[in-house]
Amino acid sequence: MSILAMIGGTGLTNIEGLELIRREVVHTPFGEPSAPLTHGILQGQPVVFLPRHGSGHTIPPHQVNYRANLWALKHLNVSAVIAIAATGGIQRELLPGTLVIPDQLIDYTWGRQHTFFEHDLSHVTHIDFTEPYCRELREQLLQAGRAAGIPLVEKGTYGATQGPRLETAMEVRRLANDGCDIVGMTGMPEASLARELGLCYACCSVVANKAAGLCEHEITMQEIQSNLVAGMKQVTQLLIQLLCDRHLTP
Ligand code: HPA
Repeated sequence: MSILAMIGGTGLTNIEGLELIRREVVHTPFGEPSAPLTHGILQGQPVVFLPRHGSGHTIPPHQVNYRANLWALKHLNVSAVIAIAATGGIQRELLPGTLVIPDQLIDYTWGRQHTFFEHDLSHVTHIDFTEPYCRELREQLLQAGRAAGIPLVEKGTYGATQGPRLETAMEVRRLANDGCDIVGMTGMPEASLARELGLCYACCSVVANKAAGLCEHEITMQEIQSNLVAGMKQVTQLLIQLLCDRHLTP
């Protein structure tokens, strides 16, 4: 059975019920990951957990060392990664607390270290990224949601913005016109780096707020954090169900 890793985002710096085995500091050719990697047992199965923004949530989205994080997971023989991400809801039905499993993304980030294919190349490499998320892992998440009775929005387009500021109302309107359903700051280059390393990668997003211009009030960190609490409880249940189902899969 392949080892599953979870990259936790805002609102998920540890997983309730995860039995700690050990923490491992991994140094990579691309620098230091966001935190030591946690080896643990969840639902009787070995998993690896990494908080994307660091153990104390101190690393902003544009400063996350995405290459080190993904390289470290690969180094630990992880084969599948679930990225948990807080997002703003663009599509009107996506209210705070909703879980979305995106099937597409658009990258609006810039200036991030976005590829492993830079030096010492024997040939130029272009990954296929038509489907940015792993189809099998997405399907497993959707099935786990059905089995556990956790409502999931089964597809959507994630717009990855640079941050750390939130968007302007007009930027959100542009994202909507482009076809984005949710907006977050960490989806890229995480997804494409995972593909470059051959890791199966899917995203489980929790809507933390209505995106800029779609709500009457100012968006605050308190609002984001408090909306994430209930959503992250559901994410944990979803992960437990997923591990249970994976265990039963021959
Ligand atoms: N925009 C971008 N990233 C986010 C948001 C948002 O509104 N909410 C949580 N992460």
